[in-house]
Amino acid sequence: MSSPRRNVELKATDPDPERSLAVCRDLGAEDRGILVQRDTYFRVGDGRLKLREETPGGAALIQYHRSDRPEARESRYRIAPVEDGAALRETLDAALGTLVVVDKQRRLLLWEGVRIHLDTVEGLGSFLELEGVAPEDSDLSAEHDRVAQLSEALGLDESRILADSYSDRVLARAGSEELIAAARGAMGRAYAPYSNYRVGVALRAPDGSIHVGANVENAAFPLGNCAEASAIGALIAAGRGQIAEAAVIGDGEEPCVPCGGCRQRLREFMPLDATVHLLADDGARAQMTLEELLPRSFGPEYLP
Ligand code: THU
Repeated sequence: MSSPRRNVELKATDPDPERSLAVCRDLGAEDRGILVQRDTYFRVGDGRLKLREETPGGAALIQYHRSDRPEARESRYRIAPVEDGAALRETLDAALGTLVVVDKQRRLLLWEGVRIHLDTVEGLGSFLELEGVAPEDSDLSAEHDRVAQLSEALGLDESRILADSYSDRVLARAGSEELIAAARGAMGRAYAPYSNYRVGVALRAPDGSIHVGANVENAAFPLGNCAEASAIGALIAAGRGQIAEAAVIGDGEEPCVPCGGCRQRLREFMPLDATVHLLADDGARAQMTLEELLPRSFGPEYLP
């Protein structure tokens, strides 16, 4: 059996792909042109298994494990060339199920044994990847050096370096859209005859479950409930105690923002770096962390 191949890898966001391309060319990197790639990830128990279909090129089945450390890291992988990509994709989908599909355009450049990928990933944006491909007997120090040299030339500071994969990001995005759709559904069921401002909220617990709420008004006005309070009630009643991600949607043109009181309500159950999606019924949206919504906040950990 062949032993796995090894790489030293670094991935970063790329706000200016034109500039990155110019830097690579100035360094004398060889431009191998654009590849269109579709990666289909299958549901497997351990590690990752993806079928890559590439134009120009062909198809290959790739198995690997990856750590989620941001720094240049070692990856071990196996590649099996595939003659009929579509047939294998359908077969593995039937046998294992498809986890996620990642479509991208990749500009491939080569510099001193390092593969430079200037990637545009569907739904995610532009990224830059460095892969120092290691010969079998390498101790990886030369690959680490070259990746470090390139990352400096490309100005990859810490804030741009990513620990997760495209597939994780596509999955997270699909999850966010599901959460937003649930909030929108709850908004449609709101009881807001006095303000005519309907609000829907969806909360995702760490186990993936989604809990929704809507605002419920009352002829005796002060008795009205915000949608966040209703959703938190549903989450607690379902036996969950933590919020991993939240979506808030309201009528009108401006993305709905939680009122001050509801920011504090969310704070009770939500980590400060977790995402809150803010939406308007007509499509406008924003996203921020809870800490951005409620800076320097008071929480349960302050109490003795
Ligand atoms: N509302 C919410 O449900 N959540 C918020 O964070 C902002 C305000 C509701 C309460 C009331 O029913 C209506 O919006 C107008 O204030």
